[in-house]
Amino acid sequence: MEGGARVVHPAIEPLSYLIGKWKGTGEGGFPTISSFSYGEELTFTHPGNKPVIAYSQKTWKLNSGEPMHAESGYWRPKPDGTIEVVIAQSTGLVEIQKGTYDAEKKEINLQSELVGNASKVKEISRVFTLVNEELTYVVEMATNLTSRQPHLKASLKKL
Ligand code: HEM
Repeated sequence: MEGGARVVHPAIEPLSYLIGKWKGTGEGGFPTISSFSYGEELTFTHPGNKPVIAYSQKTWKLNSGEPMHAESGYWRPKPDGTIEVVIAQSTGLVEIQKGTYDAEKKEINLQSELVGNASKVKEISRVFTLVNEELTYVVEMATNLTSRQPHLKASLKKL
């Protein structure tokens, strides 16, 4: 086929609703820090043929546009409803996430199996839900001093 076959791998189909660019705002906090808000763009792309979705995220300060946290990685859903995600953060922290997805409810639940190169973070969970065409997520983390608590929540719309 011209330009190479652009096929959605069958393993990706249940999560194909993610593919595209999403933009929105979020709020962050933690017992040990002041709360803050941020702008965010998320991109999910499927290069075709392989059972993987590429993920990249960037965030910025709402008042100045100054860059904040960024991260990128790969999402690997399996036909049995499990999913594996690897993420590299701009802070140097890396995550291996394992979890499940529900294609009907459009909900993805991730729990860190490994958090590497982190000075404080012990554990990270991420839940993504699509409701009324809005992609929302909640990130919780545990640190060396604090048990698992919410750090981020955001809501994004597809561009
Ligand atoms: C603070 C981890 C994502 C903005 C922190 C702290 C940790 C952390 C460990 C310090 C908490 C403490 O001192 O007790 C993470 C992890 C993330 C993440 C694991 C992703 C899973 C983000 C994102 C943003 C952000 C997306 C911005 C949009 C901040 C800010 C602070 C903070 C503003 C407080 C100021 C500072 O210490 O720099 N985060 N963070 N974080 N985080 Fe995050």
